[in-house]
Amino acid sequence: MTPIEPDAALLDTVRSAERVVVFSGAGMSAESGVPTFRDALTGLWARFDPTELATPQAWERDPDLVWAWYEWRAAMVRRVAPNAGHRAVADWARSAQLTVVTQNVDDLHERAGSAVAAHLHGSLYAPRCGGCTRPAELDDDRFDGMAEPAERMTPPSCVHCGAAVRPGAVWFGEPLPDAAWATAADAAENCDLMVVVGTSGVVYPAAELPLRAVRAGATVVEVNPQRTDLTDAVTHSWRVTAAEALPILAAVR
Ligand SMILES: NC(=O)c1ccc[n+]([C@@H]2O[C@H](COP(=O)([O-])OP(=O)(O)OC[C@H]3O[C@@H](n4cnc5c(N)ncnc54)[C@H](O)[C@@H]3O)[C@@H](O)[C@H]2O)c1
Ligand SMILES: [Zn+2]
Repeated sequence: MTPIEPDAALLDTVRSAERVVVFSGAGMSAESGVPTFRDALTGLWARFDPTELATPQAWERDPDLVWAWYEWRAAMVRRVAPNAGHRAVADWARSAQLTVVTQNVDDLHERAGSAVAAHLHGSLYAPRCGGCTRPAELDDDRFDGMAEPAERMTPPSCVHCGAAVRPGAVWFGEPLPDAAWATAADAAENCDLMVVVGTSGVVYPAAELPLRAVRAGATVVEVNPQRTDLTDAVTHSWRVTAAEALPILAAVR
């Protein structure tokens, strides 16, 4: 038996599951080259703490800094590709009723072919007006040649009201989008199997979803090379990466 082989009880559960939820966090995209919040950021951004850039206070204090950081991340994600884990989730949805709920602001699930039911923390590709909240339609050409991060970039102005356009991500301290949360909570409470991939389980209320699934009687499998705050609560903890585990789970028949 190879170390990455799951146990037989887990395989049986996967085989018989009718409603599956894949709940992903930053570790899902790590093997695509997108750093998690806990990876040290390099270069120009090394001296900033991402958890301090992703706040309403940071935006108030220094919108040009915050806008530049999100623009750089959006450009960086454009240059990477979905990994075998993202592709396996899309394949799995062809043979099971599968709902993808993600905390990620990237679009790698979508680019692998999944329909994402809930982007709990918003999206790098949905900037909106910070005043009137209308979506801002910005040209993706702006990412071309944005290889190196700029330290400051003035956010564009809303074409409707002139206020600054803000990133489409949910910041620490902000409420989650109502519709995304309702969809995610409903999926968590009505699944037989939840696969929790690459999340440290410290950001609430998102981290509540696996707990709700456990309480509703689902089997909850954690896929993460490290122990997390959710480890003691889940049914199985599998110490492997997303790109190792998901192709195995998706291939179970
Ligand atoms: N790609 C993205 O969109 C992205 C990137 C960074 C942060 N974020 C945001 O950061 C917040 C932090 O929460 P989080 O729990 O998602 O991320 P996190 O950074 O707190 O935790 C990442 C987890 O992934 C695990 N991990 C690392 N490599 C992995 C791999 N190859 N396979 C499986 N697991 C792996 C780590 O052990 C860790 O537990 C979220 O709100 C999210 O919106 C998003
Ligand atoms: Zn506006």
